Amino acid sequence: MPDIQVTRIDPDDEEAVAAVLAMDRLVWADDLRTPRERALRDTPSRAAWLATIDGEHAGVAGSWDIEVSVPAKGGAALRPAEGLTWVGVHPDHRRRGVLRALMLEHLRWTREDQGRALAALNASEASIYGRFGYGVASTELMTTFPGGTTFTAPESVEELAAATTTRMTTAGPEHAERLHALVRESGRTAVGTVVRTVEDYARVLTDIPETRGNREPFRLLWATRDGRDVGCAWFHRTPKWKRGAADGRLEVITAVDTDAGAQLAIARRLTSFDLMAHVDHWVAPDDRLVLWQGTQRPIGKGITDDLWARVVDLPQAVAERGHAADVDVTVRVHDETLSANAGTWRWVARDGVGELDRHDGEADLELDVAELGAVWLGGQTLGARARAGFVTEHRPGAVAALDAALRTPAGPVATLGF
Ligand SMILES: CC(C)(COP(=O)(O)OP(=O)(O)OC[C@H]1O[C@@H](n2cnc3c(N)ncnc32)[C@H](O)[C@@H]1OP(=O)(O)O)[C@@H](O)C(=O)NCCC(=O)NCCS
Repeated sequence: MPDIQVTRIDPDDEEAVAAVLAMDRLVWADDLRTPRERALRDTPSRAAWLATIDGEHAGVAGSWDIEVSVPAKGGAALRPAEGLTWVGVHPDHRRRGVLRALMLEHLRWTREDQGRALAALNASEASIYGRFGYGVASTELMTTFPGGTTFTAPESVEELAAATTTRMTTAGPEHAERLHALVRESGRTAVGTVVRTVEDYARVLTDIPETRGNREPFRLLWATRDGRDVGCAWFHRTPKWKRGAADGRLEVITAVDTDAGAQLAIARRLTSFDLMAHVDHWVAPDDRLVLWQGTQRPIGKGITDDLWARVVDLPQAVAERGHAADVDVTVRVHDETLSANAGTWRWVARDGVGELDRHDGEADLELDVAELGAVWLGGQTLGARARAGFVTEHRPGAVAALDAALRTPAGPVATLGF
């Protein structure tokens, strides 16, 4: 058995931070265009781990300080979570358990040291993370809107859009606080929103000319109404010509809003830039921009997983999440990596508030903790997971009862990847 050790690095230890960066660059076949000093600053040193195997550097992982909006009375509520990132294992040491060791330590640390009930990630490959208790919590349509797309919205939305002003500016770290405040406000109603820290927004909004190719710098399109921010799109354009005709591409990195009128005003601006024939803007399958098309047919180019969620502390997560219906069921939970979640629980919710207690008797239903990650933000339903065989029902009606409690009025929104 190889000797695998996982150590959290000291953020002030420059050598360790540099080792994390070197491993990341090797694993991801980095083209090294980002200047080293900038790359070092972007390394998630707040929480980063180095794994060794028989004394050699073998793998890295990091964690961003994030908030995730979960279902709650009145819409959504922001909860602290950990965003797993920078996962990589040296090509010489793959398939020997290094990732497993890093995952276990991240989950333990999130629960015990950070006291957070949820972890989240974006996956490079779909087949890796289910075994560690993560489920696909939200999905995105890989949408391209043709320039000049018509959005047909009801009159009430049109009125709000007409009262909205949009202004374009070049992105930069000076916008971090304003964006942070807006994303937090949006996350109070839109389940699935991921909020980064002000420092993280400042870093990612900073232009790196070397990595741009022929794209313009990042731009921000701010939407305001009555002197308040109501939306923002973060994007860039790449000019292109095809047989003498403009064929440019506008790519939306992320867009947030606090109401339908703001989103409509922003979408109309994004799809009406001169010279831009295509607008790549990935949105949730039930996003308003899709509903204003009537169907996904003209814009959808397939679907992909967005946020993966992992319930790390089950009783705390249940207490932090709203319930849409009263419920009283007993649930046997399997959790191979965090044994404190495993076992049989009585799950009771009254007036939107849920509570979990240990239960000695039989279970009404049985599932792996990854199933809860999949349904936590309302992106999938327990009923559908049960129909596919992932949830076992021992008492008829138990799945439907818990399903009803975990339902959300709308699916989780698409969010900025990390
Ligand atoms: C993906 C990666 C981190 C896996 O690391 P690793 O140390 O080889 O993984 P482990 O040996 O700890 O494997 C743990 C389990 O995951 C499985 N697994 C690992 N990589 C996998 C992959 N790419 N696809 C499917 N399963 C995978 C292993 O088979 C093993 O399964 P088991 O527990 O059922 O036996 C590594 O291959 C890598 O760095 N890839 C490139 C970067 C990347 O994709 N990072 C993920 C970022 S989201």
